[in-house]
Amino acid sequence: MHTYEAQIFNFPELDGISEKQLDVHIGLYNGYVKQINILREQVADLTKENAEKYAFAIESARRRLGFEFNGMRMHEFYFSQWVGGKTDEPRGTALDTAIATKYGSWEEFVTHFKQVAMSRGSGWTTLGWDKKAKQPHVWWTTDHELGMLADIDILLTVDMWEHAYMVDYLPAEKAQHVDAFLKNLNWDVATERFDSAQ
Ligand SMILES: [Fe+2]
Repeated sequence: MHTYEAQIFNFPELDGISEKQLDVHIGLYNGYVKQINILREQVADLTKENAEKYAFAIESARRRLGFEFNGMRMHEFYFSQWVGGKTDEPRGTALDTAIATKYGSWEEFVTHFKQVAMSRGSGWTTLGWDKKAKQPHVWWTTDHELGMLADIDILLTVDMWEHAYMVDYLPAEKAQHVDAFLKNLNWDVATERFDSAQ
């Protein structure tokens, strides 16, 4: 069986995001990678042991798959967006044009992204590319998996769980977490994701 391994992220110094915040968060990410492996092993072991007797436990574990798997994968999308260091926003690129077509302008997109990120609860705000409709979407995902859109390529995503910012900011200051997230971005990562989604 394939075993998932935690990725290593070499963060530059970030403005408004402390090393302690990153360490705590990476620790949680490593937990998701561990849990996805345990979950899959558990389903396999219980099925082998006695699929009928353990049907309820097997089914319960399977229902947990989306939470643990996306908990791993979404953090990989998230952390990698800072690796390589801050760059300029991708103004004048094909991504910029696609965003301006949908949201009016880059500024209006950023305002919209921030508004969605301020949704109540724990989850993620994501900018994705719908290659069928050839347009971007910004949406909210509760936990890691509830409300995830099918067949949409993730371009940019911000972790809006409290654990993502509470070393550095209070819940009432979560807008500052979104600002810190945005101002440290390596936009080349989003641009490359957009280019490969075409
Ligand atoms: Fe997180």
